[in-house]
Amino acid sequence: MREIDEIRADIAACDEELMRLLARRMNCIGEVIAYKKEHGLPILQPEQEARQRRMLDEILKGNPYEEEQMEVFGCILKMSKKVQAKALFTHNIALIGFMGAGKSTVSHCLKDMLAMEEVETDAMIVKAEGMAITDIFAKYGEPYFRNCESNAIIELQNRRQVIISCGGGAVMRDENVENLKKGSRIVLLTAAPETILERVKDSDERPILNGHMNVEYIAQLMEKRREKYEKAADIKIVTDNKSVMEICEELIRELIRMEEQ
Ligand code: S3P
Repeated sequence: MREIDEIRADIAACDEELMRLLARRMNCIGEVIAYKKEHGLPILQPEQEARQRRMLDEILKGNPYEEEQMEVFGCILKMSKKVQAKALFTHNIALIGFMGAGKSTVSHCLKDMLAMEEVETDAMIVKAEGMAITDIFAKYGEPYFRNCESNAIIELQNRRQVIISCGGGAVMRDENVENLKKGSRIVLLTAAPETILERVKDSDERPILNGHMNVEYIAQLMEKRREKYEKAADIKIVTDNKSVMEICEELIRELIRMEEQ
């Protein structure tokens, strides 16, 4: 058996080599981003991640530490995504739009794709008030909820590189738009009233639509809000008939284009 000092020296050498390899890998990530930008390739390529995982699965098959090593690989991938997101976006990504436009779904997907932190203004309010949105509306009324929403946005104004999913009515107040603009690129997600109805019809968590679950009402309210949504937005993405991945890819492409201007 080797002496303990010798084993420890070997471990230290492994750590050193691992760190050197990780730094080399990070530099490659930087190069990949630059290459994709220059050649107009999609930033998100989940099939490449799947290919890498398959290749590693193959190499590690039968290895006693297969599970642990795959876990480490998961961390490395997450770190790469973070580096990628940091290189691409210095701002927050604030998602706005009508109920059912896909803000939460897109936010969850972006979170995984870019390993960015995600916050929802509605969730912040529910946590702070200790009750559901519908209960806040019922107990204190809409103006109280809107004040909570403005406070949540103020709380977020000094954050950076976070995905902020805003409640559907958040940008109806100009002060909220001003506060969001301080640190965020604002992305408007849109969908036709028919698509919206399809997406929200089974939800009883949207007090604004209680008793009005129909296309006519949705179309009317959407039209009333349209100007504010469009004025607040830096970027607009139509979500009808698109997969979440397609939406995220378009969103990232548009944001990069904006950063480059
Ligand atoms: C609202 C939208 C909801 C929530 C509240 C009011 C609105 O958020 O903030 O029920 O006025 O459009 P979602 O857009 O996430 O459903």
